[in-house]
Amino acid sequence: MATMESLIGLVNRIQRACTVLGDHGGEGSLWEALPSVAVVGGQSSGKSSVLESVVGRDFLPRGSGIVTRRPLVLQLHKTDAGTEYAEFLHAPRKKLTDFAAVRKEIQDETDRITGKSKQISNVPIHLSIYSPHEDQPESIVQDIENMVRSYVEKPNCIILAISPANQDIATSDAIKLGREVDPAGERTFGVLTKLDLMDKGTNALDVLEGRSYRLQHPWVGIVNRSQADINKNVDMIAARRKEQEYFATSPDYGHLAHKMGSEYLAKLLSQHLESVIRARIPSIIALINKTISELDAELDWLGRPIGVDSGAQLYTILEMCRAFDRIFKEHLDGGRPGGDR
Ligand code: GDP
Ligand code: NA
Ligand code: MG
Repeated sequence: MATMESLIGLVNRIQRACTVLGDHGGEGSLWEALPSVAVVGGQSSGKSSVLESVVGRDFLPRGSGIVTRRPLVLQLHKTDAGTEYAEFLHAPRKKLTDFAAVRKEIQDETDRITGKSKQISNVPIHLSIYSPHEDQPESIVQDIENMVRSYVEKPNCIILAISPANQDIATSDAIKLGREVDPAGERTFGVLTKLDLMDKGTNALDVLEGRSYRLQHPWVGIVNRSQADINKNVDMIAARRKEQEYFATSPDYGHLAHKMGSEYLAKLLSQHLESVIRARIPSIIALINKTISELDAELDWLGRPIGVDSGAQLYTILEMCRAFDRIFKEHLDGGRPGGDR
């Protein structure tokens, strides 16, 4: 069967191919149906830490579905000015009054740091919103919330819902959002961080065993690097080892140790991602076949004038489609039904 690595490469290639084939992600498009991943959770819940340990090992297609490639730190201020406006820390005194400009600035500033390579960065973008009204959410704030929601609402968006174990799960931002957009819990992965920071004598078994909040996928408990570990430059490998040791030797979680930790979370996600991609293969092949026959017809009409610009371009696209067709067939033929993971 296909390795995870080849599947990741495949998603990235499919997305590029979609663009070439004119599928830019409208309603019901193939692009829309490709898996994406959103990490959600309250401030300091451990989103960056989890993302780092999962994506840092290339288990997920970088940038192909990840919501914010840089964290957005949003601050609300009251102003006596008549209208609402937004200001970025990196561009002081530039007052933006509409959301389109704010969104474009987020994208441009992200690209400035990460390059067009769609890498992730942990350098935050600081955005302040100045509003004349105190309580009711103003339009830009609402628009930003809607932007986040529009990502996680997509049926193929996998939600990594991060909640810290040292806070009441009932107040978790991540669970609130998950409950709203994925009430059946089919595409939400509940991640409980900071197990090591819980009060002595308490444990998170009610959450981890699915009694507090039920999801289709099992909850995964995590022990990330603490701030002290980060200051001491504890590397990822050492952190993983420490995490595994924590679960293996824990009187509370010992019986769950094989289903806990960053490595297990990465494996769960890989498997889920793979099954989502596999389910998409028939519609991808249909799109390619349709394109191949359309391009073939067009080339026939052009009389295959290789060397003439438009003909050559079409020919390249046709070759690309055929290559994809081959790759998909290999994936399909290579895997036994149900896979062998
Ligand atoms: P984010 O704001 O959601 O991205 O949270 P971060 O990943 O930046 O984590 C916030 C702080 O909590 C950092 O100092 C982390 O080192 C610390 N932290 C995150 N997860 C854990 C954990 O599982 N255990 C401990 N002890 N600290 C953690
Ligand atoms: Na949270
Ligand atoms: Mg963060």
